Amino acid sequence: MEADVAYAICRMNEIPSQKARGFHLMIVGDDGNPRPWPIIVVRWGRQVFGYVNKCPHDGVNLDWERNQFLDPNGIRLMCGKHGALFELGTGNCVEGPCKGRSLTPVALAVLDDDICVVGVRLVEDEVAGDEEA
Ligand code: FES
Repeated sequence: MEADVAYAICRMNEIPSQKARGFHLMIVGDDGNPRPWPIIVVRWGRQVFGYVNKCPHDGVNLDWERNQFLDPNGIRLMCGKHGALFELGTGNCVEGPCKGRSLTPVALAVLDDDICVVGVRLVEDEVAGDEEA
């Protein structure tokens, strides 16, 4: 039943079009224990794409500088560690040491202009963006 819950993480207009933003969420794992679940949300016009913030190469967060997810041209996601480039809409690595592998997609939905995470169970109190400080 939890799979039907949608968790609003931010408003659509809080992420400018063609930008990405990180969120540090807590997910309830299969064993019932909470664990950190950092994700990236990319907005492109009215479309949103979500990925787990974990490089398939070394398993690190992509944003070595906080919330810097895009390459200098602003058209791909980039890992700050070794510069792997990922397509925004698919999460596929098109260049770099993990070429051919992919970011793990996160299911998102837009409901009443709220960007929501769906299909997982979150620890709700922990929903917070990176930009609050
Ligand atoms: S850890 Fe991301 S490219 Fe190496």
